[in-house]
Amino acid sequence: MSGSSTIYRSSTTAPVNIAVIKYWGKRDTALNLPTNSSLSVTLSQKSLRTHTTASCSESYSGPDSLILNGDKEDIQSSKRTQACLKHLRSLRQQLEAKDTSLPKLSKLTLRLVSANNFPTAAGLASSAAGFAALVRAIADLYELPQSPQELSLIARQGSGSACRSLMGGYVAWRAGTKEDGSDSLAEEVASVSHWPQMRALILVVSAEKKGVPSTAGMQTTVETSTLSPARFKDIVPKRMQDIEKAIQERDFETFARITMQDSNSFHAICLDSWPPIHYLNDVSRAAMNAVETANRKAGKLIAAYTFDAGPNAVIYYLEENAHKVAGVIKNILPWTSGWEGEFGEAIPPNEFGSLEQ
Ligand code: ADP
Ligand code: DP6
Ligand code: CO
Repeated sequence: MSGSSTIYRSSTTAPVNIAVIKYWGKRDTALNLPTNSSLSVTLSQKSLRTHTTASCSESYSGPDSLILNGDKEDIQSSKRTQACLKHLRSLRQQLEAKDTSLPKLSKLTLRLVSANNFPTAAGLASSAAGFAALVRAIADLYELPQSPQELSLIARQGSGSACRSLMGGYVAWRAGTKEDGSDSLAEEVASVSHWPQMRALILVVSAEKKGVPSTAGMQTTVETSTLSPARFKDIVPKRMQDIEKAIQERDFETFARITMQDSNSFHAICLDSWPPIHYLNDVSRAAMNAVETANRKAGKLIAAYTFDAGPNAVIYYLEENAHKVAGVIKNILPWTSGWEGEFGEAIPPNEFGSLEQ
């Protein structure tokens, strides 16, 4: 039984993912199609996560709304959020057309309430966890039968990196070749259990909102960087192949080298953009030095740094080298906030959906 006061509700959490081969450039800004494929590791939701509740009711009036971290977001003018909502509603409509006994949720106002338990818009992939959670919460509310891969097509339209947060372990976003974007989706290349020793350490250098949002920054790069065409066309496709092989073979040294090279390549095309985009600062560079020192001391690559669009470092290493990595970094970066706190802990990759709520 459902009266006009019934509130339909669904809550979910989604993890962040940190790319080792970076997405930085769109070939189609309307559909959010990338210039190149990318690959990431999905991190445990026990540390960093987005929690989102979606609800709808006949008693709700007015436009759809989103409260993010306690503040109202303007989703009416966000074409990308609107694209996600439209797509999810049309899938619900198809269900309602097939089974007329279903409540017509597709016609009701949606209210979304979301919170990130980590800094938003600071280069720690909040848009990835955020849109993955938004899409999952609404898909659950609408009882959609679509697979994570099908949902990744929708999340991609909200934020590119979000398509990779709908799966656990090692996840590729295939750039695809179709103009309509129907083959630009996420695919799990290896599960967490394939390489369970992998750990990520997050050093929060700054929790402040970045000066240049990812969407704007990558557009400047595509339009102005003279180095970027080579990255999109030759460099990244080769690295995708090599890093996937390294993951399959659990070859940490190759994984680490390519991860650091690709992070540096991404920040190089940022610097090569006009006006230049600076995401790294002196503490970031000290983190790079610390990792290089740890690797030199070990006589092999035991740690790999990577930086998204912000100064915060993510360091990948294997559990067996935890002490060596921590020792060097702790000595060199005593001022990094959160070392002893929630962001300083080792984060194993996430098996999606393993978090009990
Ligand atoms: P980040 O490096 O954190 O991903 P971006 O510049 O890519 O930064 O994206 C930040 C934007 O993503 C925010 O301004 C907001 O619009 C959106 N976002 C972040 N978290 C959420 C969330 N939980 N739900 C919906 N949108 C979110
Ligand atoms: C540096 O996915 O945030 O983190 O699609 O415009 O929302 P939009 O951009 P976004 O860009 C992520 C950039 C990156 C690299 C990566 O995650 O692959
Ligand atoms: Co983002």
